[in-house]
Amino acid sequence: MTVQKLERNIFQRLFGLCSTRKPSEKGGWTTAAGKIIVELDAMPELKSKGAAVRLEGKGLKDPVLLVHGDDAAYHAFKNRCTHGKRAIDPVPGTETIQCCSVGTSTFSYDGSLIEGPAKGPLTVYRVDQDSDVLTITV
Ligand code: FES
Repeated sequence: MTVQKLERNIFQRLFGLCSTRKPSEKGGWTTAAGKIIVELDAMPELKSKGAAVRLEGKGLKDPVLLVHGDDAAYHAFKNRCTHGKRAIDPVPGTETIQCCSVGTSTFSYDGSLIEGPAKGPLTVYRVDQDSDVLTITV
């Protein structure tokens, strides 16, 4: 598999700045008992394949990257690279996830490392879809 690098400037790479944003509508997701419930109707950022949002706060132990995959499925990851714990972004059109730091470790949707200095796979969370509602088990 050929790895495609996200276009970032040196400042973004040095500080590991990701391009994925938090959801614009704060009420589009909730947490309870180890689950994240996402209402897709209230998450316009996820309409397109290859798009993603960062879910942080609301009692979550770790930040989560939620991706509307190029395979049309939804995928959720602990938003920490296993090299230096930097944030990760999807690489649209490639079915891969990439670290935002200089190392650009790249992973497949199942979390496995494809390329880069990461020490192991990403933590992948189970995502169940029922119509327009996602349940992520964290
Ligand atoms: S922190 Fe991800 S490659 Fe270094």
